[in-house]
Amino acid sequence: MESSKLLITDTSLRDGHQSLMATRMKTEEMLPVVEKMNEVGYHSLEVWGGATFDSCMRFLDEDPWERLKQLRKIFTKTKLQMLLRGQNLVGYRHYPDDLVEEFVKKAIYNGIDIIRVFDALNDVRNMQKAIEVAKAEGAHVQGTLSYTTSPVHDLNCFVDTAITLKHLGSDSICIKDMAGLLSPYHAYELIKKLKETVGLPVQLHCHYTSGMASMSYLKAVEAGVDIVDTATAPLALGTSQPPTDTIVAALKDTPYDTMLDINLLSEVSNYFKSVRGNYQIPLDIALGVDTNVLNYQIPGGMISNLASQLEEYNATHRLEEVLKEVPRVRKELGYPPLVTPSSQIVGSQAAANVLMGERYQVVSNEVKNYLKGLYGKPPGTIDKELQKKVLQGEEPITCRPADLLEPGFEQARREIEDYLEKSEDVLSYALFPNAARDYFERRKSGFKQQASGDKNHEKPEPKGKPAEGSSAGRDTHTESRSFKVTVDDQSYRVQVEEVVMVNEQPQVTSASVSREPDSKETSHQAQDGSSTTVNAPMPGSVLDVVVKEGDQVNEGDQLMVLEAMKMENEITSPVTGKVTRVITAKGASVNSGEPLAIID
Ligand code: CO
Repeated sequence: MESSKLLITDTSLRDGHQSLMATRMKTEEMLPVVEKMNEVGYHSLEVWGGATFDSCMRFLDEDPWERLKQLRKIFTKTKLQMLLRGQNLVGYRHYPDDLVEEFVKKAIYNGIDIIRVFDALNDVRNMQKAIEVAKAEGAHVQGTLSYTTSPVHDLNCFVDTAITLKHLGSDSICIKDMAGLLSPYHAYELIKKLKETVGLPVQLHCHYTSGMASMSYLKAVEAGVDIVDTATAPLALGTSQPPTDTIVAALKDTPYDTMLDINLLSEVSNYFKSVRGNYQIPLDIALGVDTNVLNYQIPGGMISNLASQLEEYNATHRLEEVLKEVPRVRKELGYPPLVTPSSQIVGSQAAANVLMGERYQVVSNEVKNYLKGLYGKPPGTIDKELQKKVLQGEEPITCRPADLLEPGFEQARREIEDYLEKSEDVLSYALFPNAARDYFERRKSGFKQQASGDKNHEKPEPKGKPAEGSSAGRDTHTESRSFKVTVDDQSYRVQVEEVVMVNEQPQVTSASVSREPDSKETSHQAQDGSSTTVNAPMPGSVLDVVVKEGDQVNEGDQLMVLEAMKMENEITSPVTGKVTRVITAKGASVNSGEPLAIID
């Protein structure tokens, strides 16, 4: 047995609290223990990136850049690490190259030593810009494999991607098992192969969700893994990582001994026990093994998302059908790994396919863009018929998606000029316009107003519990009340939505009035002589109305955008004609079968 000390990256200050505490740990809760952590001798600490960035501004009245600077000052002996979603940076959509360049530069300038770069589809073109800049700025670049299982994901495909990541400049390779799907013996095989063929240090990042992670770490260690990600015991297990303390103890006096001081580690753990005590962690997140992952190969977070979406449609009894539909949709989309944002895209389409009674009767804009290639190249082959049907003759792009984006930094700077205190503010704003502007306003007023939290609709901000663990919004809940009002024999439905904030007065955030349909239409459209009524195909909220009364439209032209199941769905005209009435308005909530417009 060759002797090689195992290195530890502790994720408590990023993934640990992102996974278990909805990313709510405050900098002031970190500071009392960082001097101690600095003495432990970890290989590195993951402290930034992922969901921590927008969570700081949205919920904590904190500037993410200031947090990094503060931690950097105290962590004099320990390398600091961040998670970057490739071209998505720390957000949920692709950003233009100039923003990627500026963001990565500032992250390194403010104290990041190691940047872990990943892409949900493992499309290296979505990672290459970030890798190139980080490399030029002198950071350690960790290229990442988003781990999943499917007929197109075999050992060779991961190894090939790792080799490409090495050629692009990666200094090490990370296997990112966000859903806890990596089993111990597959971990052994994969790591052995990567070590033999790629020739870079390999780091393993598993979530405990399925209960296999500690076993997988042990087999990974035997296969020669260089570094593993763990979290301090109180922030470990459940949907987080295996515990640092346990892994260190398990390997003591073996050739893989981490040489970390267990006593010092338990002091760190004791501190975090008190922090954890400040938060209520739902039992299904904190404890237990999520057997859904084992049964369906669908990440647990995604299943609870689907369940809560179905609840909104009074269709919880159809969960089983949707779970069976998910693998079908995933196959048709070329087997994307199920991680943000692909898990939402696949899940919502599967739910729509089941609820609508006809598969792909409604196709979300996200699926459309995915089929257009705007998210990158899927791992497998896309179903050609589906692609043709949805794109209606339009050719999918073949270039790197970000090549189509206009530079964004200058425009963002001009838009937010009045609030700027430092150049990093431009980046915060460019990534999260609403959350950043709100935050800047509160900063200007000395934080007298409360953080507005979920009021912002920067989508796709996943509700509930996606695989990567950003479960923003657990401390507020939305209540919607509907009233029926009848005026002159015409019924109107008035919907008032309020956000009840914990320890705060309820706030009304939206209200809408819509005409009650005279009779429930079940079909998509109803024809009456020469006029056609376009009805809502499913319940949702009207995101945009792109036509007005009097407009001439052709069959297939877009009339409005309906947001349903957290996806945008285009409502198109079933006929060619003139729009004689627009019955709904932007912001209105509509029920299935409710009339939206009339076309003559
Ligand atoms: Co993670």
